[in-house]
Amino acid sequence: MEAIAKAHTNIALIKYWGKRDEALFLPMNSSLSITLDKFYTTTAVQFCSCLKEDVFLLNGQLASEDETLKISHFLDKIRDIAGQKLYAVVNSVNKVPTAAGFASSASGYAALAAAATKAIGLEIDNKTLSQIARQGSGSACRSIFGGYVEWQKGEKTDGTDSFAKPVGNEQEWNLSILSVLVASKQKKVLSREGMKRTVETSPFYAGWLETVEKDLSLARSAINEHDFEKLGDVVEANALKMHATTLGANPPFMYWQSATIDVIEHVQELRSKGIKAYFTIDAGPNVKVICQQKDEQVVRDLLLNVDSVEDVYLCHPGPGVTYLPASTTENGSKLLFNRFHQANCARTISRNL
Ligand code: DP6
Repeated sequence: MEAIAKAHTNIALIKYWGKRDEALFLPMNSSLSITLDKFYTTTAVQFCSCLKEDVFLLNGQLASEDETLKISHFLDKIRDIAGQKLYAVVNSVNKVPTAAGFASSASGYAALAAAATKAIGLEIDNKTLSQIARQGSGSACRSIFGGYVEWQKGEKTDGTDSFAKPVGNEQEWNLSILSVLVASKQKKVLSREGMKRTVETSPFYAGWLETVEKDLSLARSAINEHDFEKLGDVVEANALKMHATTLGANPPFMYWQSATIDVIEHVQELRSKGIKAYFTIDAGPNVKVICQQKDEQVVRDLLLNVDSVEDVYLCHPGPGVTYLPASTTENGSKLLFNRFHQANCARTISRNL
């Protein structure tokens, strides 16, 4: 019972910001993203009757108890669906610069959902897989699919209509996405905590909800029409609105730092020179800049010259979840499994399923 899956991160063009159900990860609004080719997570999962608890290896190291518990709770959902009570060894390798503040939860939970459901023997389609990945981290439901992806929020209380799907048949539009790493100092408010505080306390949240569906339909039609300016305008406006809600929260907070604003100003300057580039920002100080492929080198060079910019990663639309052969060496799956499964069997039982 082993499977290995690979999933890529995504960048939201229209943001998911706020939950209507914390336990089921049901969002207040629909969102839209591009899955990126450059950053991904590969995860091997093996269930075994002789394990006495779940074991979680992250980038070759045994993960902390807290991290393992989160993974274990997520696996519980999959065990429930499968009607199984087996523990697992989870071996995850992140090719995401997480230390630089780029989030890996989307690719992480998408890869885990795919590998674990396959390893436990569930035969499900990508829509169901997206619903399961959502319950690890909301944005993970979008990483099941490649290219341009929409997460429809759904209306039902059980979440069965809240899942992601590709935007139309449009996977061919090869835009460039530059992930801009800025020099950052402050400790960040995690997105989960930030969106909760905003929903509960920000008077600006109502304005977000009033306009986000319109932003989404503009973005959807811009993608279908390949209208880059129309897409860029709505992407920037939507990001600014999301960040405005945090300023009204109690206590207020902001994800931007001076370097973030530096990058914003440089993007605006590029536009004043006729180069079409647009920014978006998630729950941190880094900036993503979208442009057309013909402009990617000039935009990249300019951004690399900004003092507060530490690095720029050039990305393009990437694929959805894929499954890898069990012998894949990136995860050294078999060897690691044997090592940790033996070590684990020697431990005392710490939780009962
Ligand atoms: C600002 O998916 O990380 O990046 O569901 O609580 O795990 P949880 O949150 P997460 O939030 C992402 C927020 C965002 C916008 C987006 O990706 O749509």
